[in-house]
Amino acid sequence: MADDARLLEELRFKSSLLDALNEASINGVLVVDAGGRILSVNKRFIEMWGLAPEALASGCDETALEAVLGKIVDAKGFLERVRHLYGHPDETSSDEILLRDGRVFWRWSAPVLGKDGRRYGRVWHFRDNTELVRAETMRAELKQKRELSALKDQFVGTVSHELRTPLAIVMTAVDSLRKGLAGPLGPRQQEVADVCHRNLQRLNKMINNLLDISRLESGAAKARLERVDLETLARDVEANFRMMGRGRDVALRVEIRGPLPAVRADPELIAQVFDILLDNAERYATRGIVLRLGAESGRAGGHEAAGVRAAVCDDGPGVPPDRVGLLFNKFTQVARAVGGGGYKGTGLGLAICKEILGLHGSTIGVETLPDGGACFSFSFPPGSRARRPSAPEDARG
Ligand SMILES: Nc1ncnc2c1ncn2[C@@H]1O[C@H](COP(=O)(O)OP(=O)(O)OP(=O)(O)O)[C@@H](O)[C@H]1O
Ligand SMILES: [Mg+2]
Repeated sequence: MADDARLLEELRFKSSLLDALNEASINGVLVVDAGGRILSVNKRFIEMWGLAPEALASGCDETALEAVLGKIVDAKGFLERVRHLYGHPDETSSDEILLRDGRVFWRWSAPVLGKDGRRYGRVWHFRDNTELVRAETMRAELKQKRELSALKDQFVGTVSHELRTPLAIVMTAVDSLRKGLAGPLGPRQQEVADVCHRNLQRLNKMINNLLDISRLESGAAKARLERVDLETLARDVEANFRMMGRGRDVALRVEIRGPLPAVRADPELIAQVFDILLDNAERYATRGIVLRLGAESGRAGGHEAAGVRAAVCDDGPGVPPDRVGLLFNKFTQVARAVGGGGYKGTGLGLAICKEILGLHGSTIGVETLPDGGACFSFSFPPGSRARRPSAPEDARG
């Protein structure tokens, strides 16, 4: 009698353990005997399939099957698989089921075999893989988008490169015409030649911008770092700006808050950044632009050291705060020049600045000054200070 009681107790314990394990599973679990009767079903299974109590009340698998079929996209395929497995009791199977409400279930089924070789029936596991499948789909789409974008960039780079040679030839030819080298021009012809010249300049700038951004983004463009005296560089940029004056009465002032330490930079690329910022500022300024360079203290290698902060500020309308984050993206033009008939640039200038400064370990930012006007600025941190006066370093190496 005592043995019987112990056995009964052990049986109870094992049965409760089995139930607890079933309930703890993240899968919906259904166990059916060889005759199609439901032996066990957990709460997760009922939740996943949204089953009403009557669907399981009879304890018959067929009733449960009927209740779920309406929720499945390929109900026929689902049923065929079930029938096939009931006809082949030793088979194990796994597949994915798409539900009408968009969910995706993973289904796994295997025979339940005792250690003594006895067949108890079949177990069905269902797992809700909807989020997983969604994440995988998004990852695949993102990868495809990246590949397409790289292909597009490569195409734009190649086309821009190929356009440069014929464009240079046409520009030289039109220039010769304008200067009367191919014979004297009447006022009307002169006017037409001048229009051609202006538009070719614009086209040239656009193509150069496209080529620059494509080379910078692909990593083909590298910075040749060398010791640079930014004050001298700023004076050259200023002289260039005056020479290229576009007829607007906008004054440029270079302000040096020195003495400035030399920095390690690529002078051509940094001059290009200033040119782009001045080109923009000149379009928006009312009366004046300031190119400011100032020493900036910080720490490098555990020591106090000096870096340089550079800024190009104008007295134009400034940049709306909610657009600041967008400005440095490619092809972004936030606003047309005030009163202008619509400036048709590429929207690449600031993206080029961002890439160039990235090559120098620096970032560019913009703020709108209290009395209006945009101020674009970036730093050469103390660590970028040139150490050896006459040893240019080529980052290309
Ligand atoms: N100084 C500024 N003041 C106000 N807005 C500016 C200023 N500089 C740039 N922006 C805004 O940022 C946009 C992007 O400038 P970006 O230099 O990238 O392109 P773009 O000047 O329009 O074209 P591109 O450089 O090809 O001539 C400009 O179209 C303008 O809306
Ligand atoms: Mg620009």
